[in-house]
Amino acid sequence: MSVSQPFNALAANASDHDAERRNMVMLTVAVAGAATVATAIPLVSSFAPSQRALAAGAAVEADITDLAPGAIKTFEWRGKPVWIYRRTEETIADLPTLNDRLVDPQSEVKSQQPVYAQNVTRSIKPEYLVAVGICTHLGCSPGAVPKGTSNPSVGADWKGGFFCPCHGSTFDSAGRVFKNKPAPTNLEIPPHKYLSDGRVLIGEDNTA
Ligand code: FES
Repeated sequence: MSVSQPFNALAANASDHDAERRNMVMLTVAVAGAATVATAIPLVSSFAPSQRALAAGAAVEADITDLAPGAIKTFEWRGKPVWIYRRTEETIADLPTLNDRLVDPQSEVKSQQPVYAQNVTRSIKPEYLVAVGICTHLGCSPGAVPKGTSNPSVGADWKGGFFCPCHGSTFDSAGRVFKNKPAPTNLEIPPHKYLSDGRVLIGEDNTA
């Protein structure tokens, strides 16, 4: 299950996050009902993680085949929203120019990402950011704010990224937190790996 949106649409939805999560849970229940019917085909149903397994942290497969440059999709993993944001070439090129303004530009706080995301794009593939969409201050839902916005909350020469409406923390498009904001660390990058160009497994990787 996923929600696909243009990058800037996420901002408008940020304050509706709790309602969205409730809806996602309801949808999950609906999917669970459908899965019960599928038990008549044991070979197929055996590949699907049970709802109990999902709640305990089973990996979630994300289909990003239709994700356009500049768009973002939200998936649910362990009850958390996980964004997959497809960055443009321009967005990727902007990232190193922001380093001086960030708390942890090289992603040295090890708890916030796996080792393979300890780089300037915080990703396996620079084109895709896979990040938990929960603010590292007190857990609100940041919203996406595109480059060139007139939103005064993110300041002039904004290159695009995420803004938390609760206390004003800002993150760049790699989820790196800006200095002098309440959030202490970069957004969390979950363990993940690519099953193919268009499929990402969230919650599992190739590390031992
Ligand atoms: S919860 Fe995001 S800034 Fe406080």
